[in-house]
Amino acid sequence: MDDGRSILSSVVASQLATHARYGGVVPELASREHLRAIVPVVRLALEEAKSGYSDLSAIAATIGPGLVGSLLVGLTFAKSLSFARGIPLIGVNHIEGHIHAAILDAAVEFPAVALIVSGGHTHLFEVNPGFSYRLIGKTRDDAAGEAFDKVGKLLGFGYPGGPVIDQLAPYGNPNAVKFTLAKMKGNTLDFSFSGLKTAVLRWTQARDLTAETQARKELLAAHPQPSIEEWLAVTPQTTRDVLASFQRTVIEELLRRAAAAAESIAARALIISGGVACNSGLRAAARDLHLPYPIYFPSPGLSTDNAAMIAAAAFPKLKRGEFTSLNAAASANLTLA
Ligand code: KG4
Ligand code: ZN
Repeated sequence: MDDGRSILSSVVASQLATHARYGGVVPELASREHLRAIVPVVRLALEEAKSGYSDLSAIAATIGPGLVGSLLVGLTFAKSLSFARGIPLIGVNHIEGHIHAAILDAAVEFPAVALIVSGGHTHLFEVNPGFSYRLIGKTRDDAAGEAFDKVGKLLGFGYPGGPVIDQLAPYGNPNAVKFTLAKMKGNTLDFSFSGLKTAVLRWTQARDLTAETQARKELLAAHPQPSIEEWLAVTPQTTRDVLASFQRTVIEELLRRAAAAAESIAARALIISGGVACNSGLRAAARDLHLPYPIYFPSPGLSTDNAAMIAAAAFPKLKRGEFTSLNAAASANLTLA
């Protein structure tokens, strides 16, 4: 990035093909893929930005949370570059990166509420001027993305489930299966998705879906990225309906609590980011709410994990001279607030 707002290049080395056959991310394979990818990815990013190492004034890397092996590869590479070129190192919280992905070139008014929905997080933060954060709600069990992935896996759609369910949901009736929304004791801004996941499991067990699930597994085995027509051919209407109903329930749950959070702090903006923020049903439902403050989503390319969002989050720290020591350790469970 050249000024915290404009992206000069954004290179993402997807590992989905590696992990898809195991139905989820395999930590050891992820570390190895990171090792293989880091040098070529940085080289390509510089090339696409028409820049060289000598043009860099600082290097940012994710310091946590995440799989520690993968974090270490990026952080160690960034430390080496920082040391070799004599430029500052800026360690960035992955979640803060997601928040910045949504507000790159926006003049956001504060306080804002940020809903971070990914494979590992379903968190609500209050965002205040100067980018200080306060956690105001979070999932007590599964993250929303995790629920998408588990339902996808259960029904033979492979990994990750989110994008496929998103594509198929418009072909189903979202009101066909009534899933009850989780009632929360204590903090009513907390989320829970494990009950919904279990409800989908029960729905599945009450029917014999062996043949269609097997057909989908065979489709995936034949080639890793089936088209929507191919998915539809092995997905009967009842299954489309349960997917649409599941997705509608997740979306309602997310937006209901996000809107309540915004109301509780008199927010002037709502930021929705993280992999699940790609979901087209979620984006449409958020628009349809006509809330009295603007909602910021990242562009689809910046919703799932990427490096540009980490650079964007690093800029305010660069301006403040908030640098990270070369002794800093990666932290798998780092929290934002
Ligand atoms: O932010 P992200 O790329 O990685 C994490 O930090 O977790 O998010 C990945 C998650 C996965 O659970 C994936 O199923 C979900 O985001 N996801 C989606 C969609 N695209 C990705 N969920 C619903 N609809 C989508 N279109
Ligand atoms: Zn993420």
